Amino acid sequence: MTQDRLPPDVDSPPASYYQRHIFFCLNERRNGEEACANHHAQEAFDRCKSQVKAAGLSGPGQVRVNKAGCLDRCAAGPVVVIYPEAVWYSYVDVQDIDEIVESHLKNGQVVERLLTPPHLGR
Ligand code: FES
Repeated sequence: MTQDRLPPDVDSPPASYYQRHIFFCLNERRNGEEACANHHAQEAFDRCKSQVKAAGLSGPGQVRVNKAGCLDRCAAGPVVVIYPEAVWYSYVDVQDIDEIVESHLKNGQVVERLLTPPHLGR
C-alpha cells in the first residue's frame, strides 16, 4: 500500500480500512415477488454515493457505500445495514437517505425513526 492512497490526515493505515460500510440491498426478483429493487433501491444507492462523496466522507478511513444482494430482511425493505455498528435501516425515499448520511455516516448518530423493526426478516 502506498502512502498516497491514505487519507491526507492519517500517517498510518487505519485499524479498519474503512470506518463504516453501508450496504444497500439492490435485489430484484424476476418472478414478481417483492424485493428492494421495486422500491427505488438503486436511486437510494446512487443518492447515498453522491451525498457521501459531496460531504467528503468517501475513501479509506471513512465510508464505503456498497451494493448488496438480498440481505434476507425483505419484509422490512428497502433496507440498508451499516457496519461495524450493525445498524439496520428501512427507508422510504432519498430524504431518508440524506438523513442517514448526515446523522449516522457523518456524525455517528443513529436515526431512531428509520430503524428496522428487529422482528422483521424475510
Ligand atoms: S430483497 Fe432486499 S432484503 Fe431481500
